[in-house]
Amino acid sequence: MADTVLLGLDVGGSSIKSALVDIEQGRAVTPLQTTPTPVPSTPAAVLQLCAQIDRQLKARGAAGLAFPAVVRHGVARTAANVDHAWIGFSGGAELSRLLGRPVVFINDADAAGVAEITLGAARGVAGLVILLTFGTGIGSAVFLDGKLLPSTELGHMEFHGVDAERIASAHARTVEHLDWPSWCARVNDYLARLHALFWPDLFVIGGSISEDFEQYRALLQSPTEIRRATFGAEAGVVGAALAAANGEQL
Ligand code: BGC
Repeated sequence: MADTVLLGLDVGGSSIKSALVDIEQGRAVTPLQTTPTPVPSTPAAVLQLCAQIDRQLKARGAAGLAFPAVVRHGVARTAANVDHAWIGFSGGAELSRLLGRPVVFINDADAAGVAEITLGAARGVAGLVILLTFGTGIGSAVFLDGKLLPSTELGHMEFHGVDAERIASAHARTVEHLDWPSWCARVNDYLARLHALFWPDLFVIGGSISEDFEQYRALLQSPTEIRRATFGAEAGVVGAALAAANGEQL
């Protein structure tokens, strides 16, 4: 019988989140563990740490590895907040070699989106759904009738002459000491651009900023319905495990 508890790993620029995930219930069954990302965050250093976490958690079956970069056919193509040695690197294949088990390698926002569309805020929503994760950068996951269009990079869409994430990420809010109205004005502007280009049926707001959603939800405006992501900090880990269960390498 296939394992129903799988390892989800969510690599970020500053930390690696991990847990064993019950893929039927879509929830972590071990406490969400946060481990500092090695510096420098080279593939070898990061993946050895992932293998160590896998041993500690006594994981079995396939594993999911969420990563903050474009991942095409199992290969990282960008490296926004991690060591540039990742560009061109087959992260899933290498971790699979270290673990001796299958690994699915997936963009971190796509992983969060998989969690939300399968069991969270966008469950059962037909049409076009765009999940945005607001954190260090802005990640995006785009679904049409539940099917993922992998590795979209809407956070890097040009916006006022620079990447949108430089203006509207949670990180930008922190470093520029923006209050909620000022930050939401930028996000509304960004959502308006996305609305004009995609005409989505639903926006889901995820990433670290989703934890404060009640403080700013009344300030967000769009002709498109806006919902808060339901998986919070666990989204990437749960989605990575769900992607591993699915087994398809995008
Ligand atoms: C990266 C994306 C990633 C997002 C969130 C962006 O800078 O380009 O691939 O999904 O940050 O981590």
